[in-house]
Order: sequence, then structure tokens, then C-alpha cells
Amino acid sequence: MNKKTDVASLRLNYVLNELLEENVLINPFKQFEKWFHEALENNVAEPNAMHLATVSGGKPHGRIVLLKGFDDTGFVFYTNYESNKGRELAEVPHASITFFWTAMERQVRIEGRIEKTSAAESDEYFQQRPRGSQIGAWVSRQSSIVTRESLEERTKELEEWYGDDVIPRPPHWGGYRLIPESIEFWQGRPNRLHDRLLFTNEGEDWKIERLSP
Ligand SMILES: Cc1cc2nc3c(=O)[nH]c(=O)nc-3n(C[C@H](O)[C@H](O)[C@H](O)COP(=O)(O)O)c2cc1C
Repeated sequence: MNKKTDVASLRLNYVLNELLEENVLINPFKQFEKWFHEALENNVAEPNAMHLATVSGGKPHGRIVLLKGFDDTGFVFYTNYESNKGRELAEVPHASITFFWTAMERQVRIEGRIEKTSAAESDEYFQQRPRGSQIGAWVSRQSSIVTRESLEERTKELEEWYGDDVIPRPPHWGGYRLIPESIEFWQGRPNRLHDRLLFTNEGEDWKIERLSP
């Protein structure tokens, strides 16, 4: 059996749960919160890891980042504003984030507009980070070409420079908030007849539609 055949024969029938119009919450942020807590309770590894898709020159780019906050104003993650994704978001301030919670047989897709978080919000989160990560944010010119040696050298220099002082947030590092225009909840079901409920923003309200799997 060659490797190609191996992959093609991987198949899981999803049987754990269902998502029906009568039990979905009409506020998609509340529904996200409910599923997020269930992912935590069921020990999903890194439930806040999400795929972030951006666009530049009509071409898509994807990578994983960590969700660091959410409420009905949006979904927040932190990064380097001068990284590839930072440049892409400056060019096209729209993105999509996708969660896959394997143990729950669930996917959530969120699409919308992107804004930078306020400097105060980024400062507050930066100060909660471990000191090593704070130094790392100063050291890394994210997405540029580098050597391992230069990263380690610069880390040592900055550790000595700051000593026990408070480390300020680098101006090139901070948060983005994705303000959703649509949120789709996907629950795996037997025989690939999955449940997909799509919420589309209509000002104060959200329209809910079932999509074919
Ligand atoms: C589990 C995981 C979590 C990550 N979290 C973040 C994050 O929160 N912020 C970030 O900038 N990069 C994070 N990364 C690294 C990104 O995937 C990516 O390599 C980096 O942001 C550079 O992307 P870019 O060149 O497209 O800007 C994470 C990677 C993994 C695998």
C-alpha cells in the first residue's frame, strides 16, 4: 500500500453531537463562548489556536495564531505589526479565523473586518506576558530572514539591558480585533450530513441560516 492510499483511507464518522436551530443560541458570541467552554472541559489541546487567513495582491496566506480574548466586540489576537500578516492586514483589513476542535468534531469559521486594538489594550496584555516573551517581542523582526545566533545574542543583550526593569511594549507589536460579519458553526454528523449554521450580521441582529454540508 503506498502513502497516497493510506491517506485516502483515513475516515472518521462523526457521531458525538448535533447542532439544531432549536438549541443554538441566537447570539453567536454566546454560542461561541458555550462551545469554547465545552472544548476546554473536554481537554481539546490549545482550544484558542486558530487558523488566520489574510489576503495580499489577491493571494491568500494562512498561519496559526492564538485567540487572546473575545466578547461581542470581536476576537482579539496579538502579533508583530511589521510581520507579513501585519503588512497584509494593512493592505486588506479583512480576515478569516477558523477553529477546529477535533475532540468535539466541531469547526467555527469567523469572517470580518480587522482593526488594531488600542495602545492601552495592547499595553495591558503585553504586561501580562512572561518576561521571556516580552524580550522575544523586541528581539523578533517577525517574518524577516535571520540566524539563530543573532536571535540568541540579541536576547542576551536585552536581558542585560532591562535587568529587573519593566519592559515596555515594542511599538511594532500589538493586537488586532476581528469584528465579525459572519460566524459559521459546524458540527460533524454521521454520513457527512453535517450541521452548519451560518450567522450573518444585520446590524443589531444576526440572521441564522442552515447551509448544506
Ligand atoms: C500553536 C501556534 C500558535 C501561534 N501563535 C501565534 C500568535 O499568537 N501570534 C503570532 O504572531 N504568531 C503565532 N504563531 C506563529 C505564526 O503561525 C506565524 O509563524 C508567525 O506569526 C509569522 O506569520 P507571518 O509571517 O504570516 O506574519 C503561532 C504558531 C503556532 C503553531
